[in-house]
Amino acid sequence: MRRKLAAGNWKMNGTTISLTEAENLAKAYTSPSVDLLICPPSTLLSRLSETLGNSPIATGGQDCHAATSGAHTGDVSAEMLKDSGATYVILGHSERRDTYDEESEEVRAKAGTAMENGLTAVVCLGESLAQREANNTLDIIGGQLAGSVPDGATGENLVIAYEPVWAIGTGLVPTLEQIAEVHGFIRERLIRRFGEETGNAIRILYGGSVKAANATEIFSVADVDGALVGGASLKASDFSGIIDAL
Ligand code: G3H
Repeated sequence: MRRKLAAGNWKMNGTTISLTEAENLAKAYTSPSVDLLICPPSTLLSRLSETLGNSPIATGGQDCHAATSGAHTGDVSAEMLKDSGATYVILGHSERRDTYDEESEEVRAKAGTAMENGLTAVVCLGESLAQREANNTLDIIGGQLAGSVPDGATGENLVIAYEPVWAIGTGLVPTLEQIAEVHGFIRERLIRRFGEETGNAIRILYGGSVKAANATEIFSVADVDGALVGGASLKASDFSGIIDAL
């Protein structure tokens, strides 16, 4: 039985004042059967981890370098994230694949380093609108999945997030049938590669314009094990509405 996971990706939002939102979330969190994760900007990670120290809410990074240390100005290593209290790291988000030309091979290297450092990698996959309209969605997702996930993945060290690029921050959401098709496809590929037990243990999140108003129906879809939430994770009251739907 996979535990549900609600993950908030604050992206490049948040200063010290945002810690209050996290405290409010911790106070409102009354659903111990659901795992909760907040991935703040790296400037807030240590403080957020301290703020949430007495709550079961986990913290995570939004990226890490594939190398363990060295001359990489501006980058953050998996070990540094761990040292800041993180237990997860988002990798291969479409905003990074797009802005920094991150290819799946690089995402795979980062995920391998993250896992070696005891972090759970949240590996993001998603098709563009043009790719969906050209009926290439499953090819794209299959290629990103095979390319981005390292060998040795387990239900503990890997979470997959399916995020259609065209649904991120747009208010557009795929139909439930479209979500079911992609999540079912990812599950089948995970089982084929890692075997029945591990393939069924890896959680698959949906991400892209999730909010309290649409969360219940999205979470009703088979193989949707939770959500990776951007905008609606910034306010505790909005995020709580999504968590309550899980
Ligand atoms: O990582 C989160 C996703 O990019 C979704 O963002 O909920 O603002 O659409 P959104």
